[in-house]
Parts: sequence; structure tokens; C-alpha cells
Amino acid sequence: MCPEFNPEAFREFERQGHDRLAESYADVFTPITNLAVSYLLDVASVKTGTRVLDVACGPGNVCQAAIRRGAEPSGIDLSPRMVEIAGRLMPDVKFRVADVERLPFEQGSFEAVVCNFGLGHFPRPEASVAECVRVLVPGGTLAFAWWDSLQRQRLQAIFRAALGEAGATPSPRIPTGHDVFRFSDTAALRGLLEGAGLEQVSISDHATSIKVDDARQLWEIGMGSLAVTSSIILDIDAATQNSIRLAFDRICDSYRDGSTLRIPIAFKIAAGHKP
Ligand SMILES: C[S@@+](CC[C@H](N)C(=O)[O-])C[C@H]1O[C@@H](n2cnc3c(N)ncnc32)[C@H](O)[C@@H]1O
Repeated sequence: MCPEFNPEAFREFERQGHDRLAESYADVFTPITNLAVSYLLDVASVKTGTRVLDVACGPGNVCQAAIRRGAEPSGIDLSPRMVEIAGRLMPDVKFRVADVERLPFEQGSFEAVVCNFGLGHFPRPEASVAECVRVLVPGGTLAFAWWDSLQRQRLQAIFRAALGEAGATPSPRIPTGHDVFRFSDTAALRGLLEGAGLEQVSISDHATSIKVDDARQLWEIGMGSLAVTSSIILDIDAATQNSIRLAFDRICDSYRDGSTLRIPIAFKIAAGHKP
């Protein structure tokens, strides 16, 4: 973390960014984040009757899967728009607007706490994990899905490469000093969970791919879901935007597989048990 990192500014940026993207996120991105859900719920032993909290629930896709298993899910998210969408899709589930560092639950409320692609969005990960552990029962499981490194996780990597080629400089309103991919490193991820006192920590790697029709579709996926990347691009002048898009289209060509593009997607599933 760089010295100029401001956790509160980052938190507010995240809230506004995900509010802005909530509708499109539900359409274009949950088909990708859903790739991790069954692994996440399996490692947290979510089954009939499990009280499970979905942290950073977004539009509620993990809760939907938990319901299909007969579990009793609750969801929280920082973004009111995300929570509104989740509540609309699942009126019987209790969704709340809340910050991961201040969960509105008594200690020991859940047998499982899961978080699908939320971890890198939290400004203070250690405090966030400690708060998740607090609401677990003794013996309960905390489980995270998070992106693998940019070498293996090419969706964000293609956008970053295009920004780099176009020489794009983020506007001053984009928060700096936060490394979204810090926990793409297995040792760092293990250290985070063990540092919170979790036992029997396990980390598994998962690699797959998505097929998209063309560069335009991939652009729409990224612009409709990636809070920081889309903000950088939207804030930039039209000429640089055009250069980014040209670089993006060219880079996408190297992922051509017949008439479609095949984009490697990779993530880690990490879990540990509360003593
Ligand atoms: C990439 S989305 C993941 C959404 C969903 N879990 C899924 O599987 O697609 C990240 C989510 O983290 C939420 N978020 C960011 N910072 C947060 C915080 N401090 N506390 C709670 N949620 C947060 C965002 O609002 C966003 O909905």
C-alpha cells in the first residue's frame, strides 16, 4: 500500500462506482463471477439450513445459488443500488446496505461467511477479514473467491494493456495507492487468513475461459462492470479514449478462436475455519 492511499476516499469511490454500474453489472458480469460460486459454497460447506452471509453480495447471485442449496442466506453490500437489485430479485432474502468493516450482525451469527470477488475492493482487508470472523460461529468457515494474477486473469489485463499502450493517465479523482491484485498472490492470501486466526487454511487455483463474440462485447463487459477501469476511461479526453479503444481491439485479436474470442479467466478460492 502506498503512503498516499486514503481508505475513506477509496471506499466512497467504490460505493459510487458500483452504484453507477449496478444495472449493467448484473447483466454483463455475474455470468463471469458465477464461475466461482459453486467452489465457494462447496468449500464453505453451504447446504440445507446453513446460515450463510454473503459479503459484498452485489446483485445477489451468490445468495441465489445458496437458496438453491436450501441454505438460509443474508447479503450485505456497500452499494445501495446493488442491494436494491438483489432485493428485487429475491424479496424473501434479507439484504442490507453495510460496510464489510461494520457488519450489522451479532457475533457468531453464521455458520459460513462467503465473499465472491469482493476482497480486492476493500480498503482495509485485515480489518475486513477480522469483522467477517467476528460474525462466524466457532468452527464456521470464511471463504473468499478472488482473481488470480494478471498473467492468468486476462480480462482486466487486456484493459490495462490498452490503457498503457494509449499512454492514458488517470484523472486525479481516481484513488491511487491501492493494489487490487495484492491477494492474487497465494502467500499473501494465506497470510491474510492465517493472520486473522483462521485454521486449516486452504487455497485452490481455478483456470477457465469465457467466449465472447468480439472486442466490442468484451469492451461492454469491462465498461459495464469494472469500477476503476471504466472511470479512468470515462474521465479521459476523446482522442485518448479513441486510442485506448484501437489498442484494445488490436490486443483482442490475439485471443481469436475461430469466429469468437476466448479470454482466459482465473481465480483463487481461499477458506479457513474459526477456532
Ligand atoms: C466485483 S463486485 C462482486 C459482486 C458479487 N459478489 C458477485 O459475485 O458478482 C464487488 C462488490 O463489492 C462491493 N463493495 C466494495 N467495497 C465494499 C465494502 N467496503 N463493503 C461491502 N461491500 C463492498 C461493491 O459494491 C460490489 O458490489
